[in-house]
Amino acid sequence: MDIIPYLVALYVILPAYLPNSAAVIVGGSRPIDGGRDWRGARILGDGKTWRGTIGGILAGTGLALILNVVRGVIGIGFLPEFTFVAALALSTGAMLGDIGASFIKRRSGRERGAAFPGLDQLDFLIGAIVMTVLLAGGWLWNVLGMRGIVFLLLVTPVVHLTANRIGFRLGLKDEPW
Ligand code: CTP
Ligand code: MG
Repeated sequence: MDIIPYLVALYVILPAYLPNSAAVIVGGSRPIDGGRDWRGARILGDGKTWRGTIGGILAGTGLALILNVVRGVIGIGFLPEFTFVAALALSTGAMLGDIGASFIKRRSGRERGAAFPGLDQLDFLIGAIVMTVLLAGGWLWNVLGMRGIVFLLLVTPVVHLTANRIGFRLGLKDEPW
């Protein structure tokens, strides 16, 4: 079995994996929804803040640019280069996916921090893929293909749950999901 396409897929999605963790660390302060309700529940809730969102996007985009430099220095030819638009789309899409999930959670009566199995583990990946298809579709298709996308949909829940459990143990996250 050729494992290179799978390693490439995991590498390419790193700028979409980082924003959520970065948001947990830098988050806080003003909620995006300004504390407003819609149909009897918060629009998004106190867990979605401007600082967390912008910090997450900057962290993801910054990571992609750092990876480009590292790749150039070490000369790892099989790893693709992130275009700036792709870097921005992956990280912004990840944050928007997470924000969209909070909107859905509030509509379904779930309080901030409540679990929504399935959605919690894939919201940011789906957001990142959709946004990158829209802004850098040719690039994404070229580096991932359908095989890479399906692989990421399958492994991301495992990666996400493991990372969150570590964040919870370290006292960074309030819930282990
Ligand atoms: N965070 C943030 N801004 C974001 C995403 C996350 O500030 N756009 C921070 C918040 O402090 C949040 C923490 O990261 O509490 C954990 O993120 P997450 O689990 O996505 O939010 P929850 O608090 O669980 O809220 P929700 O139920 O809406 O997902
Ligand atoms: Mg949560």
